[in-house]
Amino acid sequence: MNESTEKNEVIRGLENVIAANTKTSLVDGVNGELHYQGYNINDLAENTQFEEIIHLFWQGRLPDVAEFEELRSRLVAEMRLPSQVIKMIELSPPNAHPMGVLRTAVSMLGMFDPDAENSSRASNQRKAIRIAAQVPTIVAALNRVRRREPVLSPDPELNLSGNFLYMMNGGIPGQDEQKVIDLVLILLTDHGLNASTFAARVVSSTLAEMHSAVSAALGALKGPLHGGANQRVMEMLQEIDNIDEVKAYLDGMLADKKKIMGFGHRVYKVQDPRTNHLRKYSELLCRQAKMSELYQISHKIEEIVVREKGIYPNVDFYLATVLFALGISKEYFTPVFAVARTVGWIAHILEQYADNRLIRPACNYEGKIGRRFIPLSERR
Ligand code: COA
Repeated sequence: MNESTEKNEVIRGLENVIAANTKTSLVDGVNGELHYQGYNINDLAENTQFEEIIHLFWQGRLPDVAEFEELRSRLVAEMRLPSQVIKMIELSPPNAHPMGVLRTAVSMLGMFDPDAENSSRASNQRKAIRIAAQVPTIVAALNRVRRREPVLSPDPELNLSGNFLYMMNGGIPGQDEQKVIDLVLILLTDHGLNASTFAARVVSSTLAEMHSAVSAALGALKGPLHGGANQRVMEMLQEIDNIDEVKAYLDGMLADKKKIMGFGHRVYKVQDPRTNHLRKYSELLCRQAKMSELYQISHKIEEIVVREKGIYPNVDFYLATVLFALGISKEYFTPVFAVARTVGWIAHILEQYADNRLIRPACNYEGKIGRRFIPLSERR
């Protein structure tokens, strides 16, 4: 088929277009199920640590104890950032969005990586570890810099989620807090051919190196229709003063045909299986942080939107209050998402490299044709 002026049907948003084969994750939108490499997310969610999931995605199976410990210590060993990247973080404008800083830092790491332009299998495996290890450090370092606190080095005894919290806040994190962050990272690791994963696959299909593909994916994740939705959820909750205002607030939004952030999904037509886990922790953590009304407002929003629009909360909805109750400020919600999804992106990038064909769809041309060229000096 040529790209031409013929009107071929456009599949808007590429809905239901099959663009890749994958062994990573299965999003079952009809039954509301999510499977990672054949395991139901409900079995993994509260029973594993993030390193087990990383091993599952990159090696195709869960690790034994020795493999787990080896991966944990390799990740910690690669968490440090080059001093130039820390300097860039310090020099970034104070109002720059953390996702912009993260995207820039990953791109910059691509130049400093010892395997920079080497895309051999072995070097990609080394880069995979480094990128997954360094993304949480970037997010944590930015948080420290913005709070005028010293940037911390990882603690070799902790796992990835523990180090993430430690480098964000200082002080060894409590086990409960670490468990919630592990849960969040596990729930967000991968999700079929979502927009950022597709962006990663498009870039890797040109055989560009891994840092370029991850930088592109970070750009896609930042958008409010994708990973940026969680921050907007929090902004919406902060606009609602109390539970009695919820109905009027939503009526106004729906009358103006505005989207309710954190609701709706391209694939799930029933409830997203990740919602139950996050709702449960939203209630618990809001109660512990003495902000139960935030949870109650969220729950009332869910009741009304499900009833009146027939759409369900997606992963970003209760994620917002979970992270907020943990003391994470809203600009960092999407970066936390990125810490997790980086692992999924890398799994897809490796799959793309292993069986690659350039991703290059086609478009209908709707512009003018046959225009007569006039040189600059003669144009009036
Ligand atoms: N609030 C209100 N209405 C919504 C909605 C929402 N969050 N999500 C979808 N809808 C409505 C649309 O207005 C549309 O209605 P219409 O047919 O009457 O015009 C219908 O549902 C289909 O929505 P559409 O935007 O075409 O679906 P999509 O598959 O292209 O988009 C999302 C999926 C996720 C982008 C969309 O649901 C959305 O924008 N959600 C809010 C942002 C969000 O939470 N993103 C995180 C996704 S994990």
